Amino acid sequence: MVEEFKNLINGAWKDSVTGKKTENRNPADWEGDLIGLFPASNADDINEAVAAAKVAFEKWRLIPAPKRGDVLKLVGDLMVEHKDELAHEMTREMGKVKAETLGDTQEGIDTAYYAASEGRRLFGHNAPSELKDKLNLSFRVPIGVAGIITPWNFPIAIPTWKIFPALFCGNTVVFKTAQITPKSANSLVKIIENAMKEVLGKDYIPGVVNIVHGSGRVIGESLLPHKDVDLISFTGSTAIGKRINEVGGRDLKRISLELGGKNAQIVMPDANMELAIDAVLWGAFGTTGQRCTATSRLILHKDIHDEFVDMLVKRVEKLKLGYGNNPGVDVGPCASEEQRETVNEYVQIGLNEDKAKLVVGGDYAKEGDLAKGWFYMPTIFTDVTPGMRIEQEEIFGPVLSVIKCNDLEEGVKILNDTEYGLSSSIFTQDVNDAFRAVRDIKAGITYINGSTIGAEAHMPFGGVKATGNGHREGGWTVYEFYTEWKAVYLDYSGKLQRAQIDNY
Ligand code: UN1
Repeated sequence: MVEEFKNLINGAWKDSVTGKKTENRNPADWEGDLIGLFPASNADDINEAVAAAKVAFEKWRLIPAPKRGDVLKLVGDLMVEHKDELAHEMTREMGKVKAETLGDTQEGIDTAYYAASEGRRLFGHNAPSELKDKLNLSFRVPIGVAGIITPWNFPIAIPTWKIFPALFCGNTVVFKTAQITPKSANSLVKIIENAMKEVLGKDYIPGVVNIVHGSGRVIGESLLPHKDVDLISFTGSTAIGKRINEVGGRDLKRISLELGGKNAQIVMPDANMELAIDAVLWGAFGTTGQRCTATSRLILHKDIHDEFVDMLVKRVEKLKLGYGNNPGVDVGPCASEEQRETVNEYVQIGLNEDKAKLVVGGDYAKEGDLAKGWFYMPTIFTDVTPGMRIEQEEIFGPVLSVIKCNDLEEGVKILNDTEYGLSSSIFTQDVNDAFRAVRDIKAGITYINGSTIGAEAHMPFGGVKATGNGHREGGWTVYEFYTEWKAVYLDYSGKLQRAQIDNY
């Protein structure tokens, strides 16, 4: 019996009006492991969910913020209780190894507790008035219905970055997850719904959080222009992000975009080499390279280039590929066949560059059980030069391009010279070089002696240039996106005081 899953709309788990279903399968064992069937919904389902969220908003916004924080505290507790199972099922539907899916779930837990701790803060600002017997206040108010559109590479963490602050701030949510990872999304929504019921008791409000499964083309496209959707938060490709900005912008929707990256790690000659190698292995091949923050370029100072590459290749050859729920596996499959094809296309582009040299990998991995899934060999090209397509375009797979530089200045220039600006890293023991890099690197995140991956939930997350539209997720910064500022003037003088006129 194949398990069938549903949408959650207005507090009820129900099938799509289409009655159609799509399959969710394990990318490490495509034919052998059918995880479940999920609704292939359409615009009618979205309309119903948005209508429910709109009605729920008028009640949810009146629940005091500390109480909304209590809901998120319980969400965090429930996620802790189910952490292992959430991680296991995430590995099963998405492919990254269990240590990483445990980390993904933990990032969600951290985000829940961070939001819960905001419960008794959500501070505003007071300012003096320019007039006597008058008080100026400002505070944050919720906005309305948030459309949340998330990718498959962080099936729990990324939705929590968006849904938890949205809810905590008093907004309601219509959630559309990637079709590759619907089970993790459903489990998360179930936890939120249970926590709502338990904390709110008789005041429980249906429709505060809704999930509608289906394709981006149908579901995303009906959510985006919907007149009752006030906010859209999206993580995914720059091409789709631009379209969301364009369509949503016409209606003045508030839009947060987290888009592509082409992140680089620079290694200077004085760096701790072992550490720098550990970091690049983790950054380039962790999550099979499928992170916006993945290290897809390695910029090596010429003095250590050859030795570093030799050491790195030896380590890459030892990486063990396999099903991520099995012990001892370092790298899982690509999340889908389509993703693996994209990776292979980029490898062909690299092979067609006259100068670039393939030093390891460069092909599908098909020995033994690997033939059952979408595995690709961890791949490195050396002699890559600035401007090559494999050096400029986001691949989203286990492919690393190595570029040689003559000095720090040139390294930073190469690092900066792409359309993206999400994460970056420099390995050096020289404090002056480190701070020059921090000053000159154009990216939202810079690590000194750390990999390009591994942002923490309570810090601003996001990038510059084509990586986004200036918002930051995570930390205190995300609350800017999910609230509007309300300015309040309180005059207790008993007379009409005219600002800018009566006082000058
Ligand atoms: C992403 O790849 O879209 O910093 C998110 C990191 C993780 C989040 C990545 N904490 O790599």
